[in-house]
Amino acid sequence: IPNKVTNIACIGAGYVGGPTMAVIAQKCPHIKVTVVDINEKRIADWNDIDLSKLPVYEPGLDQVVAESRDRNLFFSTDVEGAIREAQMIFISVNTPTKTYGIGKGMAADLKYVELCARQIADVATEDKIIVEKSTLPVRTAQAIRTIMNAAPARPNSPSPAPRFTVLSNPEFLAEGTAVKDLHNPDRVLIGGEEDEDGQRAIEALATIYANWVPGERILTTRIWSSELSKLTANAFLAQRISSINALSALCEKTGADVDEVAHAIGTDSRIGPKFLKSSVGFGGSCFQKDILNLVYLCRHFNLPEVADYWEQVVKLNDYQKQRFAKQIIDTLFNTVSGKKIAFLGWAFKKDTNDTRESAAIYVADELLQDRAEIHIYDPKVPTERIYADLEYLQQHRRPQAVIADRAKQSDPPETLSSEAIRRLVHVHKTPYAAMEQAHAIAVLTEWDEFRTYDWQKIYDAMRKPAFVFDGRNILNREELNNIGFELQSIGRG
Ligand code: NAD
Ligand code: UGA
Repeated sequence: IPNKVTNIACIGAGYVGGPTMAVIAQKCPHIKVTVVDINEKRIADWNDIDLSKLPVYEPGLDQVVAESRDRNLFFSTDVEGAIREAQMIFISVNTPTKTYGIGKGMAADLKYVELCARQIADVATEDKIIVEKSTLPVRTAQAIRTIMNAAPARPNSPSPAPRFTVLSNPEFLAEGTAVKDLHNPDRVLIGGEEDEDGQRAIEALATIYANWVPGERILTTRIWSSELSKLTANAFLAQRISSINALSALCEKTGADVDEVAHAIGTDSRIGPKFLKSSVGFGGSCFQKDILNLVYLCRHFNLPEVADYWEQVVKLNDYQKQRFAKQIIDTLFNTVSGKKIAFLGWAFKKDTNDTRESAAIYVADELLQDRAEIHIYDPKVPTERIYADLEYLQQHRRPQAVIADRAKQSDPPETLSSEAIRRLVHVHKTPYAAMEQAHAIAVLTEWDEFRTYDWQKIYDAMRKPAFVFDGRNILNREELNNIGFELQSIGRG
């Protein structure tokens, strides 16, 4: 097993593989880094001379890519060639929730990871370190190792059969701050096997990070601890949001202010101030998927109480999104049919073009069930992405707790046709056009620019009463109230 690495491959050129490898290449000019993907369009976009076309929008990423692309950073569709050349191979493919068969709607779908392992086993002729960068259920390394070790011997090969060792090196970056998080991580976690090969591999990877990460922030653990720490970190982060969102509902009933409560508890150094921002609900590709994955694992190991505990974090998040939509409908005199509702923001958080699991999708769907006309403005999300998100949801509704409640009250949600979606949903290039003549505005993403709009001009062009539902608590309450808006915030009575 190599302990000095000069050639890295990364399978998967997505939100994690692209930025992570760009930073490794930037900080390690002596290492050749090749990022490969089966998606040709994605690779072409990573190679575009126009850096505004990079497939992932992240502040500062264009600079990092510009510095090392075609020097020691390469993007390619030649997966086999990259595997053959590299001493270390990162697997950074998607691990979505299964949408079929056993574990549907809960377990992680590992088919892409398995394909990578099989491909490496088929192609490799020399020893390789395989690094799990994707977020995986605990004990996946065992499955990868089994596949690698079962690779058939090559009878005509002059060299001995290659050896493989698997490391777990989960990624903790958050979207929107990926470059900052990669340049200055709280910690880098490397889990490896306890034998000599495992220890050499850990050292090889730690040496790469040591080019820019202080030694005390590079943590090494047993492989299973590393795999489980990633799911646990996301579960704890999401749990904080669900906890404060649960209390936002109580604040609205009692006249307490959720931001004041969050500040008051966050000054306790044992609790800490971060990740206590109440919102319309967390989104993003990972929190929900990783918690459901954890819940599935707990059920698999016959730990139903543990499973139920963590599942509640996701149920509460469903509740929060539905509660926001219901508040809009209730306030608009119990129907939004034919009414123009403007959405500010579609991305799951600011400073990203990613919309996966964005709360906006679910809120829009609830309002569309009531036949609202939705007018959307987001500074970074392309129009077709928005239609695709809504169309995808129609086919892949998860049996959510709140939808079950909803079914008790009325009919289950209707599946809307693409035509209906395109008739009712309009995407705008400017915010003012989206809000003109609107009955209500809903803030779904906390983009900074929303704070600095000309709110008097917006008020003048709206229908009255001019309702604003601030799902992120970012707008200036006093200013909006003085202008005459009917403003409703999360967690304020
Ligand atoms: P993504 O969907 O953006 O990218 C995955 C890429 O892998 C896609 O471009 C896909 O075409 C490619 N791919 C799939 N199978 C392939 C194969 N066999 N050969 C070559 N390419 C293949 O996903 P992502 O957001 O980058 O997430 C990747 C992993 O990282 C997931 O496990 C996720 O949970 C984890 N993660 C994501 C984040 C995040 O912020 N997005 C943060 C930490 C961890
Ligand atoms: C999250 C974690 O923060 C990363 O550490 C992790 O690597 C990543 O998931 C992953 O595994 O994919 P990300 O989803 O990119 O990162 O973004 P976050 O900043 O965590 O935000 C997630 C969601 O929670 C967003 O919708 C955000 O608006 C919401 N949120 C966040 C709140 O509603 N309140 C908060 O206080 C913080």
